[in-house]
Amino acid sequence: MRTQIVVGNWKMNNSISESIALAEAVAAGIADIPLNCEAGIAPAFPALGQVASAISRSPLQLAAQNCHFEDNGAYTGEVSTSMLKSAGCSWVILGHSERRQYFGEDNQVVNRKVKKALAAGLKVILCVGETLEERESGVTETIVNTQVREGLQGVDDVSRLVIAYEPVWAIGTGKTASKEQAEEVHASIRATLSELYGSQTAEGIRIQYGGSVKPSNASELFAMPNIDGGLIGGASLKPEDFIAILTACK
Ligand code: PGA
Repeated sequence: MRTQIVVGNWKMNNSISESIALAEAVAAGIADIPLNCEAGIAPAFPALGQVASAISRSPLQLAAQNCHFEDNGAYTGEVSTSMLKSAGCSWVILGHSERRQYFGEDNQVVNRKVKKALAAGLKVILCVGETLEERESGVTETIVNTQVREGLQGVDDVSRLVIAYEPVWAIGTGKTASKEQAEEVHASIRATLSELYGSQTAEGIRIQYGGSVKPSNASELFAMPNIDGGLIGGASLKPEDFIAILTACK
């Protein structure tokens, strides 16, 4: 039985003080409720250290939204895995479609980051997903499974890996994949993981859904057999919505 996992991806939002306030509100909101899932938040880089302190007594885990694939050196503007760990992160989100779309990250770059982050002892959320054009031309599963295969090239130990299936057309658009559409892709990803790592290992890997998850649709999505929680953008910026989504875990 896989423990579901829900992570809030705050993207490029919130000052440091706003981030602390949001983290404290989420931590306070879940303090008295039984959590059936792992829960995390991913603030922007400048807020990581102080948010780590704000959630230190809460079950919330800290995630970063990106990292670089080298240890250190002349990479102006980049942040390394050891910096993330020293800020208190246990997770890093990699290959988000916004990184792929706006910052030119391809499967090979994502793969270098995945390997670096896992080697550094971080847990990784590897994001995959098709564009609307790709869905309409019937290549969703080819695209997504290529992202999985190439993103995991040379990765042997997947015990600290989570996959997030995020159809690009559903991110920030208010359009959610139906539970059946999402389940179909999740099952296909699991079949690919099974080919790569064997069925027993594949059965243990969590696959989150992301793309306009809200309190009103979280329960039906999270009830599907291959959907193991969510990566939440917009709704994670509102503590009451994020908490409602956390409580939708089975
Ligand atoms: P959204 O974003 O929930 O705002 O659609 C999800 C994501 O990009 O991780």
